[in-house]
This record gives sequence, structure tokens and C-alpha cells, in this order.
Amino acid sequence: MDKLLIEGGARLSGEIAISGAKNAALPILCAALLTTEPVTFTNVPRLNDIATLLRLLEQMGVKVSREADVVTLDASGVDNPVASYEMVKTMRASILVLGPLVARFGEARVSLPGGCAIGARPVDQHIKGLQAMGADVKVEHGYVHAKVPKLKGARIFTDMVTVTGTENLMMAACLADGETVIENAAREPEVVDLANCLVAMGARISGAGGDVIRIQGVAALHSATHRVMPDRIETGTYLCAAAVTGGDVRLTGTSASYLDAVIDKLMDAGCDITTERDAIRLKAPQRLNAVSLRTAPYPAFPTDMQAQFMAINAVAEGTAVIRETIFENRFMHAVELQRLGADIKIDGNTAFVKGVARLHGATVMATDLRASASLIIAGLVAEGETTIERIYHLDRGYEKLESKLAALGAKVRRLS
Ligand code: EPZ
Repeated sequence: MDKLLIEGGARLSGEIAISGAKNAALPILCAALLTTEPVTFTNVPRLNDIATLLRLLEQMGVKVSREADVVTLDASGVDNPVASYEMVKTMRASILVLGPLVARFGEARVSLPGGCAIGARPVDQHIKGLQAMGADVKVEHGYVHAKVPKLKGARIFTDMVTVTGTENLMMAACLADGETVIENAAREPEVVDLANCLVAMGARISGAGGDVIRIQGVAALHSATHRVMPDRIETGTYLCAAAVTGGDVRLTGTSASYLDAVIDKLMDAGCDITTERDAIRLKAPQRLNAVSLRTAPYPAFPTDMQAQFMAINAVAEGTAVIRETIFENRFMHAVELQRLGADIKIDGNTAFVKGVARLHGATVMATDLRASASLIIAGLVAEGETTIERIYHLDRGYEKLESKLAALGAKVRRLS
């Protein structure tokens, strides 16, 4: 089990490049299942979650070739529309093969993803949408089993905003007979990136980025090349790391346009932020002001940045009130931050974070991807050494993490 050792106190400065977005690449790679022609994706991040999905696609019969950040998938030979429990349990986003498999093959057996540390994570909306499109869907023995001769366009209203639910149904609708309208759709930039990729492959989609997406089904999709958008959560994570250390960093290959809510909060905290076409620069004050926030679907403050902001608030001036409205159990980083000396009180889905003058290094444990990121941010500013255990969570979502941090002057090393 790898660990990360961080010596606190370094002020981050310098420049690093941001990688492609994990949460755009995952659905986009699944879109290759929709066509018999090869599809090429660039700016695909090298992450464990991506490797897991590529293994799953290979198991189904997809020919996978990867060269640096370029991935080419050829799904012409897919003969096994099944996603096994063994594969899906390690990476919930595998559920994203469901829509494409049903659309292309008329049948799919995909293991229920099951919960994860941050919540139950049901997929009832994915199923409800496929049923609205005419699929016969059974959930038995832990698997979602969907069958239909041909999907029909339908009007679908999701009970809540669901990112992968919107993505699954948008992909399924591409090959359905007639028009599908998804109302209450997720507006996340990753949904838009997927829609752009599908349109490049010949799909007819309008409205992505809004809460009503219209898809006109077509007979088949064709090959295309698509560049994955930059990772806005990786961007926000490094901005927080720089902010909490009084740093001055420039992040390239990324865009501020998907991070308005996060950048507003960092400016409220006292940071000076300048944005260029594909770069962001942050200069931090000596000490941040506490900033309260409430997570909600895009374009509001992203739940995937909540843990990182709890960490920067732990040493800020004042008290922050953090409300998590998306997941039912996404405060597990709080007890670990308390081990470092943070003053945090949890009341249901609200955390009260009272800034302290200083955190002190300790051994802490990562519990999920973004919680691990918050422990790194806290370790960068804690006095002495912080050891973070179970950092396989980090490797799922942050490419070349310690080398990027070291490039910014952090004193960090990995212990295998
Ligand atoms: C996506 O998860 C992201 N993952 C998550 O990022 C992100 O936190 C989340 O969206 C919210 O922005 C990927 O894109 C691969 P949801 P997803 O469906 O799609 C409930 C990370 O750290 N819900 O938008 O699974 C659900 O329980 C990960 O990169 C249902 O009840 O999230 C949650 O409370 C973590 N039934 C809420 O809706 C459903 O059928 C939003 O979930 C679907 C969702």
C-alpha cells in the first residue's frame, strides 16, 4: 500500500500543465461502443480509472491502442456486452457502458456499481430512462439486465440532476428511433464535452449544457477524433494547494471558464487570479479569509471541490459554513483533518470549520478521491511531516500527482 509523505511549509510556486478531465474521458471512451468504426481520443489522462475502463472495454472485445495521451478504440468486434462485477466494483463509472451497449446491441448485462464511501450512488434514473425508451430492464443478482429490439426516442424527466445518468441516456438516444428529450439534464462541462464528441461521430444533439437536451436518433455513428477537455477539478485542486501555502502558481492547458464558482470563492478568500485563454494564474495572500459554500449541480459550486475547500478553510481567518447537498456522506475527510488539528463540527450535511493558526503533521488515511486531495492540501501547510495512507484513491483521479506537486516546490515523496 503506497503512502505519501509531505513535509509542510513550502510555498508553492511555478508552473504545471493540467491533464485531460477524468470525468469527461470516462463517458467519452464508452461512446466508442456506439460505432463499428475506430475512434481516436487525445488528451486522455493516464489514471487508474481510465486504465480500468480500458480493461473492461477490452474484455468486451474492443480493440484498444494507447500511445501517450492518445487512445484509439475499435468496437467493431465487440461480442460480449457484459460488464462483470469484478470490473465494475473497482470503478463505478463502468455503468457508462450500459447506454451504449443497449443502443448498439439491444442487450447489456452490467453489474450494479454498488455504493462507495461517499454514498449509496443508485442508478435508478439510468434505468428509468432506458425503460422510457422501451428497454425491458431487470435488476437481479446484482446485475442490470436490459433488452430491447430497438430503442425508441422518448421524453425523459430525471428526478434529480444526474451527471452519468444524463450521459448514459444521451449516448443511448443517439441510435434510438426518433427524438429523445432529456429534461432536468445535468449541465456539467463534461456532459457538453461528451455531446461534442458524439456530434463529431455523427450524432444529432442540441441543448447540451442546458437543462433540456434533444437527441435525434440516427442509423449509425462513424469514426472521429476528439480532444478531451481539461480537468477542472484537478485545476481547482492545485489552485487550492497554491492558495493555502501563500503561493504563486500558473496552471497551463486549462480554462477558467468551467470554474467560475470556484474562482469566485478563491477571490473571496483573498487570492488574486488572472485568467488567460488556456491558463490560470493564482497569487495567494499570506493568510486566506474563511469562505462558506454550498455544493449544487453545475454551474453552482461543485461537490468535487468541497473537501479541498474544507482543507483551506481549516487554516483560514474566520469560520466557514460548508453545506454538502449532493452526496449523503461526503465529510469523511473532516475526521482526518481533525487529526491534523482542524477545528471542524459536523451537523448533518453542514460542516462548521473554524480556522486555526496552524495544523500539525500526523498520519492520516485517504477514504475517497477528493478527500485524499484535501489531506494533501492540509499536509502542505501543516507543521512537520504528514503521512497519507491508502493513496490508491489519489491515483484514480490525479495524474503524476507527486511530480506535479514537487515541480511547484512541495516537499513530497511516495513510499511504496
Ligand atoms: C458524477 O458522479 C461524477 N463522476 C462525480 O465525481 C461527481 O461527484 C458527481 O457526478 C456529481 O457532480 C463521474 O462523472 C464519473 P450523479 P455521478 O449521478 O454521475 C443521486 C469524482 O470525484 N442519483 O450526478 O455518479 C446520487 O446518489 C466523482 O470524480 C440517484 O439517486 O453523480 C447523488 O446523490 C465522485 N439516482 C446525486 O443523484 C441515480 O440514478 C448526483 O449523482 C443517479 C444519481
